[in-house]
Amino acid sequence: MFKILHKQEVAPNVHEIVIEAPAIAKKAQPGQFLILMADEKSERVPYTLSDWDADTGAVTLIVLEAGHSSRKLILMEPGDQIEHVVGPLGVPLEIGHHGTVALAAGCYGIGAILSIARAMRKARNRVIAIVEARSHYLHYYEDQLREVSDELIQTTIDGSEGIKGHAVDVIKKRLEDGEQLDLVVVVGCPFMMMLTGRETEPHKVRTLVALNPIMVDGTGMCGACRVSVSGEMKFACVDGPFFDAHAVDWDELWDRKAAYSQEEIQSVERTEPVVPLRPGSRTDTL
Ligand SMILES: Cc1cc2nc3c(=O)[nH]c(=O)nc-3n(C[C@H](O)[C@H](O)[C@H](O)COP(=O)(O)OP(=O)(O)OC[C@H]3O[C@@H](n4cnc5c(N)ncnc54)[C@H](O)[C@@H]3O)c2cc1C
Ligand code: FES
Repeated sequence: MFKILHKQEVAPNVHEIVIEAPAIAKKAQPGQFLILMADEKSERVPYTLSDWDADTGAVTLIVLEAGHSSRKLILMEPGDQIEHVVGPLGVPLEIGHHGTVALAAGCYGIGAILSIARAMRKARNRVIAIVEARSHYLHYYEDQLREVSDELIQTTIDGSEGIKGHAVDVIKKRLEDGEQLDLVVVVGCPFMMMLTGRETEPHKVRTLVALNPIMVDGTGMCGACRVSVSGEMKFACVDGPFFDAHAVDWDELWDRKAAYSQEEIQSVERTEPVVPLRPGSRTDTL
């Protein structure tokens, strides 16, 4: 059992959940993730490690409500116990001295780049964090990211804050203006990651994307997270989640991600509403 220490909605539908997981906090490295089961009947769902504290044992995740399982998690309260947490999983992102590192992020990726930015800066890189959201009220972690990066650029699709457009537009412009980016790391939805890779490829800028296919066991046993990279079969849970954006078979990733869409939609319909039975109690379905 893993206790929820703190929970806060940092932007609409963006939930910061801090759990007590000392063994994970001791071993965690930037870019790794966990697999959680909210209760004994929940499916296993992967979440990226946003931050952790090896001294206190606290581990921070950013959870967006996407379907049934994330909703269960979000409806739990501080003091509640998460049934099962496995991790840290995945290959840590290689943190070394690259030069100028651009970290592009959207949705849960904004939380995911926090520890990456901190580690990259510690390794003497110049870190540019470029975060995108549909509108100003969907941005979060502004102060936290400013503290760990040399430059923080916010973009909004409606132009209500920062630069109008997407993170990839900023990267494209900087590369066209002749700025040298030595490494680009992208964490967000697959479309954003694919587009960013397309823009950096002609400039030959190494670009790593955090792939998020469906996962089940997270240990390379089930094959659910199979992706093709440079024509080779890889398992995102044990070979990734970071891969070369220029070598990923994106079409295959879309197809495999959508394999259970109907079931995911039906699952939400079947289980609504998911509510806590009493304040502070375990989440359960009615
Ligand atoms: C390595 C890795 C790291 C990840 N890190 C994070 C993270 O840090 N934070 C985070 O929030 N997510 C993260 N994810 C994604 C997260 O694991 C998935 O979103 C997961 O599927 C959520 O489970 P769910 O049951 O809530 O949603 P699912 O039931 O699996 O639903 C997923 C999809 O179905 C669609 N869907 C569900 N219900 C409906 C409906 N009624 N109508 C239309 N569409 C619907 C959703 O839009 C979504 O695209 C990560 C994934 C991976 C692989
Ligand atoms: S999740 Fe089963 S092999 Fe990766």
